[in-house]
Amino acid sequence: MRILLTGAEGQLGRCFSDRAGDSLEILATDRKQLDITDLQAVEKVIDSFKPDAIVNAAAYTAVDKAESDYDTAYAINCEAVKNLTAEASRLNIPFIHVSTDYVFNGESEIAYSESDSCDPQSVYGTTKRAGELEALKSPKGIVIRTSWVFSEYGNNFVKTMLRLGAQRDALSIVGDQYGCPTYAGDLAQAILKMLAASDFEPGLYHYSGDESVSWYQFAQKIFTTANASGLYPRVPILSSITTEEYPTPAARPRYSVMNTNKLNAMGITPGKWKKQLEAIIPKILNEIGV
Ligand SMILES: NC(=O)c1ccc[n+]([C@@H]2O[C@H](COP(=O)([O-])OP(=O)(O)OC[C@H]3O[C@@H](n4cnc5c(N)ncnc54)[C@H](OP(=O)(O)O)[C@@H]3O)[C@@H](O)[C@H]2O)c1
Repeated sequence: MRILLTGAEGQLGRCFSDRAGDSLEILATDRKQLDITDLQAVEKVIDSFKPDAIVNAAAYTAVDKAESDYDTAYAINCEAVKNLTAEASRLNIPFIHVSTDYVFNGESEIAYSESDSCDPQSVYGTTKRAGELEALKSPKGIVIRTSWVFSEYGNNFVKTMLRLGAQRDALSIVGDQYGCPTYAGDLAQAILKMLAASDFEPGLYHYSGDESVSWYQFAQKIFTTANASGLYPRVPILSSITTEEYPTPAARPRYSVMNTNKLNAMGITPGKWKKQLEAIIPKILNEIGV
């Protein structure tokens, strides 16, 4: 099976390439090899590689920066998805696109399911929702919403915490926003399972890690795990603060836990993020030189 992977240098892209077995021929492209906003470049790559499926791991993910950069965020998160949708439709091949829990307003008190209505509160969420609608126009389009992605690659909350914790005695972390951390490697495995099932039903799915936490609780877990590894002796004092005490350009949902029953029923279950955190912390500490 031949897979065109876009955004290959991002967290999901790297984890996907790491896990793709020999049965898959991956053309891993990042922005330099294939800018997905360039329709002609997309057509050219598709015509020469002739993929059996497209996996889009590319996105504009700078949530706060997007507030003052709507056009770029829209071009990458929606217009470019339109390009990939057109090509996947032309070849009638599966198109796997990834979206976000930030399409919800966070006012729910129970986990969001795929049929719940969207009400994004930020430019990032709005442009990602527009991209979802494009991807779902493809006859074999699959959109996977995920949340709070971390990995040994790129930039993410785990790395930021470990870096800051090594520099400061105390950290204040938002304690009233809840979600499910997701290891990018688990998400990559879920996508590989979907590709392996040749008759996977097109549509919208939720996929995330298995336990919800606040950012404050996530930070606590990061530091206790790092400390238990024996590689991170100094742990900062953490205090929980409110969203109002930590204003950011983009509004974030207070509660964006997603119900993953639809994928569970198809044999794809949430990843155990605490176990994955334990496995990758030594790699991160090695990389950041702590
Ligand atoms: N990170 C999270 O916490 C989170 C949460 C929920 C959902 N998601 C979704 O999960 C997916 C994967 O996220 P991630 O964390 O792996 O993102 P990431 O690490 O930010 O990677 C995104 C990649 O896309 C590339 N890219 C940006 N614009 C491009 C373009 N025009 N053409 C080709 N490549 C381009 C980026 O390259 P440059 O570095 O050159 O920009 C980067 O390598 C995304 O759809 C994201 O919206 C992420």
